[in-house]
Amino acid sequence: MTKARIIDGKGFALDLRTRIAAQVAALKESHGVEPGLAVVLVGNDPASQVYVRNKGQATLAAGMQSFEHKLPDTVDQATLVALVERLNRDPAVNGILVQLPLPRQIDPAVVIATIDPAKDVDGFHVENAGRLALGLPGLVPCTPLGCMMLLRDTVGDLRGLRALVLGRSGIVGKPMASLLLAADCTVTVAHSRTRDLAAECRRADILVAAVGRPEMVRGDWIKPGATVIDVGINRVAGAAEGKTRLVGDVDFAGAAEVAGAITPVPGGVGPMTIACLLLNTLTATRRQNG
Ligand code: GUN
Repeated sequence: MTKARIIDGKGFALDLRTRIAAQVAALKESHGVEPGLAVVLVGNDPASQVYVRNKGQATLAAGMQSFEHKLPDTVDQATLVALVERLNRDPAVNGILVQLPLPRQIDPAVVIATIDPAKDVDGFHVENAGRLALGLPGLVPCTPLGCMMLLRDTVGDLRGLRALVLGRSGIVGKPMASLLLAADCTVTVAHSRTRDLAAECRRADILVAAVGRPEMVRGDWIKPGATVIDVGINRVAGAAEGKTRLVGDVDFAGAAEVAGAITPVPGGVGPMTIACLLLNTLTATRRQNG
């Protein structure tokens, strides 16, 4: 029996996108400025192609300009860097996103370092990462930003709560920990070398799982009443032959019996990531226009 409140990330993201579209329209009206987002896709990775298509559609739906740049998977690093430099100089482009992963011949750190930090709507540039770590204003990675919005909406005041971030990636785990710390949570970052992960999880009022391991967090690891944010999107074999299904990093059925609130997969954190990309593009545009 499900006890937890199911956090409607899909509905929240739709509402956020509506509000962003209204602000984009108002910005055009008052300043004649139309936000523009450039997305660069290298190669033919099917998942990346779907993400890039969805981002482009969402950008247009918000009333922003979308610029898509597709390069072959054989492209050399210098060509990609030159494209990013051109986008840095283009006044119609307010946000730049280079879809990851990149082919082997290209060092993602070099490409990300080339992006103008003011246009870095992924928040991956070291300048933005450093700003976040120091609690200074900058552009914040979209997935952790979306998680924070869901947490604030669900929990309200986060001060003093014990938060456990499971996963230490630069894209989710580390920025998530910084945001929770800035919200005055007591933050623990757990990872693959953490001893007695279950005991760490059981102490957490807020648990953010971002490890990419299907249903790793079990129901009996959850503190009763805790808020669970599941960032995982894992494709596993489904019940029927040849079918697959998406699951998170948390055993949803087990956790929903114990948690106070939990995000589903799909329909939880995922839709928030694109909505926050649009939000970052709007924020970047505003800052670039004084
Ligand atoms: N690949 C998967 N997720 C992301 C993301 O959020 N940003 C970029 N640039 N690439 C990704």
